[in-house]
Amino acid sequence: MTSSKSKSDIRIWDIWIRLFHWLLVVSIGFLLISGETGFLFFDWHRSVGEFVLALLLFRLVWGFIGSSNAGLVGLIANPLKAFSHLAQLLRGTVAQTRGHNAAGGWAVIVMLLAISFQAISGLFIADEDELIEGYFYGELSSGTSERLLELHHLNAEFIMVLVAIHVAMIFFYLLRAGHNLIKPMITGRMQWHDAEQPPTVKFTNPVVGLVLICICVGVIGLVIGWFA
Ligand code: HEM
Ligand code: HEM
Repeated sequence: MTSSKSKSDIRIWDIWIRLFHWLLVVSIGFLLISGETGFLFFDWHRSVGEFVLALLLFRLVWGFIGSSNAGLVGLIANPLKAFSHLAQLLRGTVAQTRGHNAAGGWAVIVMLLAISFQAISGLFIADEDELIEGYFYGELSSGTSERLLELHHLNAEFIMVLVAIHVAMIFFYLLRAGHNLIKPMITGRMQWHDAEQPPTVKFTNPVVGLVLICICVGVIGLVIGWFA
């Protein structure tokens, strides 16, 4: 018989959510540093930003055809539920989830939207000397491009704040509630308290993810002229 204190090792994140996450971390980390400091800016900022577009397209579609806990629509939880989750967290007693929790879901949506705006705005802007130009730079009026450049700068700061809060929250879960969310994002597995039955998660065949990422890189590449 399993005691109510015993734990089972169960799957939570599929390989493609994990690869998406860590590739995004490296790419956004690089883009923020290269944008702010100029490090490898002219060589890589544009290409890595365009790669992020392919990653985002992948994540959007994976939200529909990927594993059931990757869905994006389901992340839009009742805000009251999100607040009650945060209140539980402050008391150090958060319930287990086999996916994003009600508050984390909103954070994921805001982060993905901010990053999408950043990557798309990059396509329409150029630096002062026009040494680096987005693929669609010149398609909009110069006034609109300048406005987008300002927003690209402003939104970069917003992304930094979001990332700082995101990482701080991950450590807060660990220190306040004893929930290690990092290990599952690396290994794909979590320790589930056997007192309750874990929710069912339907995992998609990883080969589908491999085909999808190739298609997304191909589609973005075609639209922004990688193969021209
Ligand atoms: C998610 C993707 C992206 C992130 C996180 C990002 C981040 C940044 C950051 C932090 C800056 C500096 C802002 C500042 O100085 O206040 C910047 C500037 C810039 N980025 Fe991006 N970027 C992204 C995508 C792109 C793309 C796809 C392009 C396409 C060419 C691009 C082109 C530029 C240009 C032209 C500047 C302005 C440089 C200047 O003012 O001299 N970015 N970006
Ligand atoms: C540039 C930095 C980062 C960005 C842009 C970022 C973005 C994201 C996004 C978009 C998700 C949702 C994943 C999905 O469903 O597709 C996520 C989840 C997650 N991230 Fe990050 N992340 C960053 C850095 C980090 C770091 C440094 C850590 C570890 C300390 C981390 C740990 C996690 C964990 C554990 C989750 C899952 C949270 C949960 O269980 O609900 N992230 N992150």
